[in-house]
Amino acid sequence: MTQIKLFCPATIANLSCGFDVLGLCLDNAGDEMIVRKVNEKGIRITKITGADLPLETEKNVSGVSAVAMLEAYERDFEPITVGFEIEIYKHIKAGSGIGSSAASSAGAVFGINELLGKPYSRKDLVQFAMQGEKLASGNAHADNVAPALLGGFTLVRSYSPLDIILIDSPEELFATVVHPQIELKTSDARSVLKQTVSLKSAIMQWGNVGGLIAGLYTKDYDLIGRSLHDEIVEPLRSVLIPGFDLIKQTALENGALGSGISGSGPSIFALSRGKETADKIAKAMSEVYEKMNLPYEIHVSKINPDGVRIL
Ligand code: HSE
Repeated sequence: MTQIKLFCPATIANLSCGFDVLGLCLDNAGDEMIVRKVNEKGIRITKITGADLPLETEKNVSGVSAVAMLEAYERDFEPITVGFEIEIYKHIKAGSGIGSSAASSAGAVFGINELLGKPYSRKDLVQFAMQGEKLASGNAHADNVAPALLGGFTLVRSYSPLDIILIDSPEELFATVVHPQIELKTSDARSVLKQTVSLKSAIMQWGNVGGLIAGLYTKDYDLIGRSLHDEIVEPLRSVLIPGFDLIKQTALENGALGSGISGSGPSIFALSRGKETADKIAKAMSEVYEKMNLPYEIHVSKINPDGVRIL
Protein backbone atom coordinates (compact mmCIF):
# COMPACT_ATOMS: atom_id res chain seq x y z
CA MET A 1 0.00 0.00 0.00
CA THR A 2 1.45 3.38 -0.99
CA GLN A 3 -1.57 5.65 -0.70
CA ILE A 4 -4.47 5.97 1.71
CA LYS A 5 -7.64 8.08 1.69
CA LEU A 6 -9.12 9.04 5.03
CA PHE A 7 -12.17 10.55 6.70
CA CYS A 8 -10.95 12.80 9.51
CA PRO A 9 -13.84 13.56 11.87
CA ALA A 10 -14.83 16.75 13.65
CA THR A 11 -14.93 16.61 17.45
CA ILE A 12 -16.48 18.41 20.40
CA ALA A 13 -13.99 19.18 23.15
CA ASN A 14 -14.53 20.16 26.79
CA LEU A 15 -18.21 19.11 26.98
CA SER A 16 -18.91 21.86 29.49
CA CYS A 17 -17.30 20.52 32.67
CA GLY A 18 -14.19 18.91 31.14
CA PHE A 19 -12.00 21.76 29.91
CA ASP A 20 -8.97 20.28 28.11
CA VAL A 21 -9.85 16.73 29.24
CA LEU A 22 -13.16 15.58 27.70
CA GLY A 23 -14.06 15.18 24.03
CA LEU A 24 -16.30 13.24 21.69
CA CYS A 25 -16.10 12.27 18.04
CA LEU A 26 -18.74 13.32 15.50
CA ASP A 27 -20.00 11.03 12.81
CA ASN A 28 -20.89 13.05 9.75
CA ALA A 29 -18.79 16.20 9.89
CA GLY A 30 -15.15 16.01 8.90
CA ASP A 31 -12.39 16.43 6.32
CA GLU A 32 -10.85 14.08 3.83
CA MET A 33 -7.15 13.51 3.40
CA ILE A 34 -4.90 11.51 1.13
CA VAL A 35 -1.53 10.41 2.46
CA ARG A 36 0.98 8.98 -0.01
CA LYS A 37 4.30 7.22 0.52
CA VAL A 38 7.00 8.51 -1.86
CA ASN A 39 10.70 7.88 -2.40
CA GLU A 40 11.84 11.41 -1.57
CA LYS A 41 12.37 11.73 2.19
CA GLY A 42 10.48 14.28 4.29
CA ILE A 43 6.89 15.51 4.62
CA ARG A 44 5.30 17.60 1.89
CA ILE A 45 1.79 19.09 1.89
CA THR A 46 1.01 19.00 -1.82
CA LYS A 47 -2.62 20.19 -1.90
CA ILE A 48 -5.18 21.93 0.30
CA THR A 49 -8.73 22.67 -0.79
CA GLY A 50 -11.54 24.30 1.17
CA ALA A 51 -9.34 26.52 3.34
CA ASP A 52 -6.58 29.07 3.08
CA LEU A 53 -3.91 27.22 5.06
CA PRO A 54 -0.12 27.15 4.69
CA LEU A 55 1.46 24.42 2.57
CA GLU A 56 4.81 24.75 4.36
CA THR A 57 5.30 21.65 6.48
CA GLU A 58 6.51 23.54 9.55
CA LYS A 59 3.56 25.96 9.43
CA ASN A 60 0.85 23.35 8.88
CA VAL A 61 -0.62 21.35 11.77
CA SER A 62 -0.59 18.11 9.80
CA GLY A 63 3.02 18.78 8.78
CA VAL A 64 4.33 19.33 12.31
CA SER A 65 2.39 16.33 13.65
CA ALA A 66 3.83 14.15 10.90
CA VAL A 67 7.37 15.38 11.54
CA ALA A 68 6.97 14.71 15.29
CA MET A 69 5.87 11.19 14.46
CA LEU A 70 8.75 10.46 12.06
CA GLU A 71 11.28 11.78 14.57
CA ALA A 72 9.83 9.44 17.20
CA TYR A 73 9.83 6.55 14.72
CA GLU A 74 13.53 7.00 14.08
CA ARG A 75 14.17 7.01 17.85
CA ASP A 76 11.86 4.06 18.55
CA PHE A 77 12.55 1.84 15.51
CA GLU A 78 14.89 2.59 12.58
CA PRO A 79 15.96 5.33 10.14
CA ILE A 80 13.21 6.29 7.67
CA THR A 81 14.16 5.92 4.02
CA VAL A 82 10.90 7.15 2.46
CA GLY A 83 8.83 10.35 2.58
CA PHE A 84 5.15 11.27 2.61
CA GLU A 85 2.88 13.61 0.66
CA ILE A 86 -0.32 14.91 2.20
CA GLU A 87 -3.43 16.24 0.45
CA ILE A 88 -6.05 17.92 2.65
CA TYR A 89 -9.67 18.46 1.62
CA LYS A 90 -11.06 20.72 4.35
CA HIS A 91 -14.75 20.79 5.17
CA ILE A 92 -14.39 21.81 8.82
CA LYS A 93 -13.80 25.55 9.01
CA ALA A 94 -10.80 26.81 10.95
CA GLY A 95 -11.75 28.53 14.20
CA SER A 96 -15.16 26.84 14.31
CA GLY A 97 -14.76 25.00 17.62
CA ILE A 98 -15.26 21.51 16.24
CA GLY A 99 -11.65 20.45 15.98
CA SER A 100 -10.55 21.58 12.53
CA SER A 101 -6.84 21.49 13.31
CA ALA A 102 -7.24 18.24 15.27
CA ALA A 103 -8.83 16.52 12.25
CA SER A 104 -5.84 17.43 10.06
CA SER A 105 -3.26 16.47 12.69
CA ALA A 106 -5.00 13.18 13.48
CA GLY A 107 -5.39 12.32 9.79
CA ALA A 108 -1.74 12.92 8.99
CA VAL A 109 -0.35 10.72 11.76
CA PHE A 110 -2.97 8.01 11.26
CA GLY A 111 -2.28 7.85 7.52
CA ILE A 112 1.50 7.69 7.88
CA ASN A 113 1.18 5.07 10.61
CA GLU A 114 -0.90 2.88 8.28
CA LEU A 115 1.62 3.28 5.46
CA LEU A 116 4.47 2.36 7.83
CA GLY A 117 2.70 -0.89 8.79
CA LYS A 118 1.05 0.38 12.02
CA PRO A 119 4.06 0.63 14.33
CA TYR A 120 1.98 2.74 16.74
CA SER A 121 -1.45 2.24 18.33
CA ARG A 122 -4.13 4.90 17.90
CA LYS A 123 -3.50 5.93 21.50
CA ASP A 124 0.25 6.30 20.80
CA LEU A 125 -0.56 8.63 17.91
CA VAL A 126 -2.26 11.18 20.20
CA GLN A 127 1.08 12.56 21.45
CA PHE A 128 2.17 13.36 17.86
CA ALA A 129 -1.14 14.93 16.81
CA MET A 130 -0.97 17.13 19.93
CA GLN A 131 1.99 18.93 18.32
CA GLY A 132 -0.42 20.22 15.67
CA GLU A 133 -2.63 21.63 18.42
CA LYS A 134 0.42 23.31 19.92
CA LEU A 135 1.15 25.00 16.60
CA ALA A 136 -2.49 26.03 16.10
CA SER A 137 -3.25 27.37 19.58
CA GLY A 138 0.00 27.60 21.51
CA ASN A 139 -1.10 24.73 23.75
CA ALA A 140 -0.74 20.98 23.17
CA HIS A 141 -4.19 19.92 24.39
CA ALA A 142 -5.44 16.44 23.51
CA ASP A 143 -9.20 16.78 24.00
CA ASN A 144 -9.88 17.04 20.24
CA VAL A 145 -7.13 14.83 18.84
CA ALA A 146 -7.90 11.96 21.25
CA PRO A 147 -11.54 11.50 20.12
CA ALA A 148 -10.54 12.20 16.48
CA LEU A 149 -8.07 9.29 16.64
CA LEU A 150 -9.87 6.90 18.98
CA GLY A 151 -13.52 7.71 18.29
CA GLY A 152 -16.18 7.75 20.97
CA PHE A 153 -15.97 9.72 24.16
CA THR A 154 -12.49 10.26 25.58
CA LEU A 155 -10.99 11.51 28.82
CA VAL A 156 -7.45 12.82 29.18
CA ARG A 157 -6.91 11.58 32.74
CA SER A 158 -3.40 13.01 32.78
CA TYR A 159 -1.14 15.00 30.45
CA SER A 160 2.09 14.04 32.18
CA PRO A 161 2.36 11.16 31.65
CA LEU A 162 -0.24 11.18 28.88
CA ASP A 163 -3.12 8.88 29.88
CA ILE A 164 -6.13 8.73 27.55
CA ILE A 165 -9.20 6.77 28.63
CA LEU A 166 -12.04 5.69 26.33
CA ILE A 167 -15.39 6.22 28.03
CA ASP A 168 -18.49 4.17 27.18
CA SER A 169 -21.45 6.23 26.02
CA PRO A 170 -25.06 5.27 25.34
CA GLU A 171 -25.94 4.54 21.71
CA GLU A 172 -28.95 6.83 21.80
CA LEU A 173 -26.80 9.86 22.62
CA PHE A 174 -26.86 12.48 19.84
CA ALA A 175 -25.11 15.81 19.45
CA THR A 176 -26.46 18.91 17.75
CA VAL A 177 -23.78 21.49 16.94
CA VAL A 178 -24.46 24.91 15.50
CA HIS A 179 -21.63 27.02 14.10
CA PRO A 180 -22.38 30.74 13.80
CA GLN A 181 -20.20 31.77 10.87
CA ILE A 182 -17.60 33.77 12.71
CA GLU A 183 -14.05 32.63 13.35
CA LEU A 184 -12.86 32.44 16.93
CA LYS A 185 -9.20 31.52 17.31
CA THR A 186 -8.54 29.02 20.09
CA SER A 187 -5.56 31.14 21.20
CA ASP A 188 -7.88 34.17 21.61
CA ALA A 189 -10.51 32.09 23.42
CA ARG A 190 -7.78 30.81 25.75
CA SER A 191 -6.45 34.30 26.42
CA VAL A 192 -9.68 35.32 28.21
CA LEU A 193 -9.32 32.52 30.76
CA LYS A 194 -8.04 33.00 34.31
CA GLN A 195 -5.05 30.94 35.39
CA THR A 196 -6.50 30.13 38.82
CA VAL A 197 -9.88 28.84 39.99
CA SER A 198 -11.50 29.07 43.39
CA LEU A 199 -11.85 25.94 45.50
CA LYS A 200 -15.64 26.43 45.42
CA SER A 201 -15.68 26.36 41.58
CA ALA A 202 -13.26 23.46 41.41
CA ILE A 203 -15.48 21.40 43.74
CA MET A 204 -18.48 21.97 41.46
CA GLN A 205 -16.47 21.22 38.34
CA TRP A 206 -14.96 17.92 39.47
CA GLY A 207 -18.32 16.83 40.86
CA ASN A 208 -19.79 17.35 37.41
CA VAL A 209 -16.93 15.57 35.58
CA GLY A 210 -17.47 12.54 37.81
CA GLY A 211 -21.23 12.80 37.34
CA LEU A 212 -20.93 12.99 33.56
CA ILE A 213 -18.69 9.93 33.38
CA ALA A 214 -20.98 7.98 35.73
CA GLY A 215 -24.02 9.06 33.70
CA LEU A 216 -22.43 7.94 30.44
CA TYR A 217 -21.55 4.51 31.84
CA THR A 218 -24.91 3.91 33.48
CA LYS A 219 -26.96 5.46 30.62
CA ASP A 220 -28.50 7.81 33.18
CA TYR A 221 -29.59 10.64 30.87
CA ASP A 222 -30.79 12.89 33.72
CA LEU A 223 -27.39 12.60 35.38
CA ILE A 224 -25.67 13.37 32.05
CA GLY A 225 -27.85 16.47 31.76
CA ARG A 226 -27.27 17.64 35.34
CA SER A 227 -23.54 17.23 34.88
CA LEU A 228 -23.27 19.26 31.65
CA HIS A 229 -22.49 22.42 33.56
CA ASP A 230 -19.38 24.59 33.28
CA GLU A 231 -18.63 26.72 36.30
CA ILE A 232 -15.24 27.94 35.12
CA VAL A 233 -14.79 28.51 31.38
CA GLU A 234 -18.24 29.14 29.89
CA PRO A 235 -18.94 32.33 31.89
CA LEU A 236 -15.75 33.88 30.48
CA ARG A 237 -16.03 32.66 26.89
CA SER A 238 -19.75 32.78 26.20
CA VAL A 239 -19.66 36.57 25.81
CA LEU A 240 -17.54 36.03 22.66
CA ILE A 241 -20.33 34.03 20.98
CA PRO A 242 -23.31 35.81 19.41
CA GLY A 243 -26.65 34.62 20.80
CA PHE A 244 -25.05 32.08 23.14
CA ASP A 245 -27.53 32.39 26.02
CA LEU A 246 -30.55 32.26 23.72
CA ILE A 247 -29.25 29.25 21.75
CA LYS A 248 -28.52 27.36 24.97
CA GLN A 249 -31.90 28.21 26.47
CA THR A 250 -33.62 27.19 23.21
CA ALA A 251 -31.79 23.85 23.18
CA LEU A 252 -32.82 23.12 26.78
CA GLU A 253 -36.45 24.14 26.09
CA ASN A 254 -36.50 21.72 23.16
CA GLY A 255 -35.39 18.72 25.14
CA ALA A 256 -31.58 18.92 25.27
CA LEU A 257 -29.98 17.12 28.19
CA GLY A 258 -27.47 19.95 28.33
CA SER A 259 -25.79 22.53 26.12
CA GLY A 260 -22.57 24.52 26.11
CA ILE A 261 -19.64 25.82 24.08
CA SER A 262 -18.11 23.31 21.68
CA GLY A 263 -14.37 23.38 22.26
CA SER A 264 -13.21 26.97 22.34
CA GLY A 265 -16.27 28.12 20.31
CA PRO A 266 -17.98 29.76 18.58
CA SER A 267 -19.88 26.51 17.89
CA ILE A 268 -22.47 25.60 20.51
CA PHE A 269 -23.40 21.98 21.19
CA ALA A 270 -26.36 20.25 22.76
CA LEU A 271 -26.57 16.60 23.74
CA SER A 272 -29.85 14.75 23.60
CA ARG A 273 -31.41 11.33 23.81
CA GLY A 274 -32.41 10.14 20.32
CA LYS A 275 -32.18 11.67 16.86
CA GLU A 276 -35.71 13.05 16.90
CA THR A 277 -34.91 15.38 19.79
CA ALA A 278 -31.53 16.28 18.27
CA ASP A 279 -33.29 17.26 15.00
CA LYS A 280 -35.88 19.29 16.89
CA ILE A 281 -33.10 21.16 18.69
CA ALA A 282 -31.35 21.79 15.35
CA LYS A 283 -34.51 23.32 13.93
CA ALA A 284 -35.04 25.52 16.98
CA MET A 285 -31.38 26.64 17.03
CA SER A 286 -31.59 27.46 13.30
CA GLU A 287 -34.63 29.65 13.88
CA VAL A 288 -32.73 31.65 16.50
CA TYR A 289 -29.86 32.46 14.13
CA GLU A 290 -32.23 33.08 11.23
CA LYS A 291 -34.07 35.68 13.32
CA MET A 292 -30.70 37.24 14.17
CA ASN A 293 -29.77 37.22 10.46
CA LEU A 294 -26.60 35.37 11.34
CA PRO A 295 -25.30 32.76 8.87
CA TYR A 296 -24.72 29.38 10.49
CA GLU A 297 -23.99 25.73 9.80
CA ILE A 298 -25.61 22.96 11.78
CA HIS A 299 -24.81 19.28 12.32
CA VAL A 300 -26.79 16.50 13.98
CA SER A 301 -24.62 13.51 14.71
CA LYS A 302 -24.47 10.37 16.74
CA ILE A 303 -21.24 9.62 18.56
CA ASN A 304 -18.76 8.17 16.06
CA PRO A 305 -17.21 5.09 17.68
CA ASP A 306 -14.38 4.76 15.12
CA GLY A 307 -12.49 8.04 14.85
CA VAL A 308 -10.36 8.57 11.73
CA ARG A 309 -11.23 5.89 9.20
CA ILE A 310 -9.99 4.64 5.84
CA LEU A 311 -12.27 5.45 2.91
N1 HSE B 1 -9.81 22.49 25.27
C1 HSE B 1 -9.51 23.38 24.20
C2 HSE B 1 -9.99 24.76 24.57
C3 HSE B 1 -10.19 22.91 22.96
O1 HSE B 1 -11.13 24.89 25.02
O2 HSE B 1 -9.24 25.73 24.43
C4 HSE B 1 -9.93 23.76 21.76
O3 HSE B 1 -10.73 23.31 20.70
